[in-house]
Amino acid sequence: MADKIQIKPATGKLGILTPGMGAVSSTLVAGVHAIRAGLRQPIGSFTQMGHIRLGKRTDDRQPLVKDFVPLTGLDDIVFGGWDIFTDSVYDAAINAGVLEKELLDQLKPELEKIKPMPAVFDQYYVKKLSGTNVKQGTKWELAQAVMQDIENFKQENGCDRVVVVWCGSTEIFMKETEVHQTVEAFEAALKDDHKDIPPSMIYAYAAIKMGISYANGAPGLGNEIPALQQLAKETGAGLCGKDFKTGQTLMKTILAPGFKARQLGVAGWFSTNILGNRDGEVLDDPESFKTKEESKLSVLDSILQPELYPDLYGDLYHKVRINYYPPRGDNKEGWDNIDIFGWCGRPMQIKVDFLCRDSILAAPLVLDMALLLDLGQRAGLPGGIQEWLSFYFKAPITPEGLSAEHDLFIQQTKLKNTLRWLMNEEVITHLGREYYDG
Ligand SMILES: NC(=O)c1ccc[n+]([C@@H]2O[C@H](COP(=O)([O-])OP(=O)(O)OC[C@H]3O[C@@H](n4cnc5c(N)ncnc54)[C@H](O)[C@@H]3O)[C@@H](O)[C@H]2O)c1
Repeated sequence: MADKIQIKPATGKLGILTPGMGAVSSTLVAGVHAIRAGLRQPIGSFTQMGHIRLGKRTDDRQPLVKDFVPLTGLDDIVFGGWDIFTDSVYDAAINAGVLEKELLDQLKPELEKIKPMPAVFDQYYVKKLSGTNVKQGTKWELAQAVMQDIENFKQENGCDRVVVVWCGSTEIFMKETEVHQTVEAFEAALKDDHKDIPPSMIYAYAAIKMGISYANGAPGLGNEIPALQQLAKETGAGLCGKDFKTGQTLMKTILAPGFKARQLGVAGWFSTNILGNRDGEVLDDPESFKTKEESKLSVLDSILQPELYPDLYGDLYHKVRINYYPPRGDNKEGWDNIDIFGWCGRPMQIKVDFLCRDSILAAPLVLDMALLLDLGQRAGLPGGIQEWLSFYFKAPITPEGLSAEHDLFIQQTKLKNTLRWLMNEEVITHLGREYYDG
């Protein structure tokens, strides 16, 4: 990359396509329409509400992120996607019950027009779901059909660029196998209709093959397999994932770095949730839950580093439970009981009861990651893993052999420094000697 980075301007329209148009996706789309109409504010979105400090603390330069980097404006976004149900975004948002009906009714004419394209779906990978808006064909044919959908969407909506974010249900737990290792093996497996390729990988392949950046909001393998990383390097597509960092895990990644910073021990962390949306129903299936559990459990170990701090975190007992409880809908309740210990080993307890709205926390993340993936591509960042977007994920994808950074505040510093670097501003180390050296 040249010394001075040139970012192509965000001219024309950006398409944001989501495989899965349920609670998160409809909350995002309806929310952006509400913001455009001046009815709501983009709360929770770093790109829209966040400021970034530039230069020295004494310089007093703290522009809004969206005024600092050339992002696509909210008026220039077009939304679309795929789902196994034919519900329009209006219907999906009403079903999800996340945003108020009064607000959705004001946006009804626009939201009703956005309808999902037929999905690539197979119930083998999501046991608790069945729907009729589904494409037929071999996996290879389905990948070609998704590429055609994207091309048609671009033409019909006059989009210059497209980004894809998986907002579909959590699929069953899968491990990497030989068909995931190279592009050649993966394409051969698509043609063989191999069972190690779930729908999420078919969408990811289709987008990446077209050079379109792809984020994975669910905990499945999705786009992180070596074959798709290799393909993304070849086509210039950005990759990031996985599993939106919201709810209980967000709280964990806020609290745990604080305990470690103060050298407080943690003996146990018991997390339980009740939620009653469709995501909760899907996660009621043990095979889908296993995928989620793996992604949720990795967080504490990597923040607390028990191998480095055996006296503080060596015996940590970490348990995560998700219980499907329909009366709550999308309004999840997450309890954390944290057994910590301090000076001379004396025990203490912390209880967190987070009455959270999952999709309210997730929607701004989808907006941010789509805008930033598009920015990265216009800046000519090499294709493949975009670790600077780890800020948004429970289980950030990293190249083989590189451990993921889970600490929200380090992730935020990395994200901000990447934006400074992209804009040819000095990165900030927080050393601060310049305020004291003669
Ligand atoms: N809400 C959050 O805070 C949060 C946090 C982390 C991860 N996630 C993940 O994000 C995803 C979306 O969450 P949600 O609350 O919107 O769930 P949801 O159940 O409301 O929506 C998912 C949608 O995906 C559709 N779908 C499933 N398989 C599909 C396929 N192969 N192609 C197209 N559509 C498909 C379903 O029909 C459903 O409408 C889930 O995987 C969830 O685990 C959500």
